[in-house]
Amino acid sequence: MTKIAPSILASDFANLGTEIKDVEQKGADYIHVDVMDGKFVPNISIGIPVVEAIGPITSLPLDVHLMIENPENYVEAFAKAGASIITVHQEATAHLHRTLQLIKNQGVKTGVVINPGTPVEVLKPILSEADLVLIMSVNPGFGGQDFIPATLKKIEQLDTWRKENETFTYEIEVDGGVNEETASRCKHAGADVLVAGSAIFKSGNRQEAIEKIRNS
Ligand code: DX5
Ligand code: ZN
Repeated sequence: MTKIAPSILASDFANLGTEIKDVEQKGADYIHVDVMDGKFVPNISIGIPVVEAIGPITSLPLDVHLMIENPENYVEAFAKAGASIITVHQEATAHLHRTLQLIKNQGVKTGVVINPGTPVEVLKPILSEADLVLIMSVNPGFGGQDFIPATLKKIEQLDTWRKENETFTYEIEVDGGVNEETASRCKHAGADVLVAGSAIFKSGNRQEAIEKIRNS
């Protein structure tokens, strides 16, 4: 069954605990946490203290998406703060393989992510180290943007590679502009985990929104 990861970037930060419990109760599988440093992406969001604060209030895995330069410097801190999956941008670290090892050594699931302008082939050498591969379907930095259809090809490629190679055990996740309509295209391409911010948190009926995205 397709997993749904609501992105708390679109939630009401003044009531973050309540917002997380709400989507947990309404069927979410992961809580997607967008960390931005104002350098790798042109926006600043939240960081280590927030991850630490929300860990104890939910039983769902914290899916931490680091949109920061040199993520290797913060892997240990995010692991200690309670991240279940730490996902780093290939574009943000000079030593991707080493960074994934660092994450693994912390006992946390390893994730790797690429921007819409980055070819998926750059990931091939490290795919056996990844528990999760995230395909950005918008340029990272902001919620509420339109899905970029050209990114679907990368999902298809990742799905083909894992069928061909038994050392590839990653889940495929998609992030950005996911709604009922784009979700079905992602699923058909091979995605297992769908991140959605606006389409869930801004919906009047979040339970229905989650179900519609999952069953699209
Ligand atoms: C974008 C973030 C996304 C974002 C998704 O930089 O990584 O997780 O919150 O938001 P929507 O679903 O509104 O596009
Ligand atoms: Zn994200």
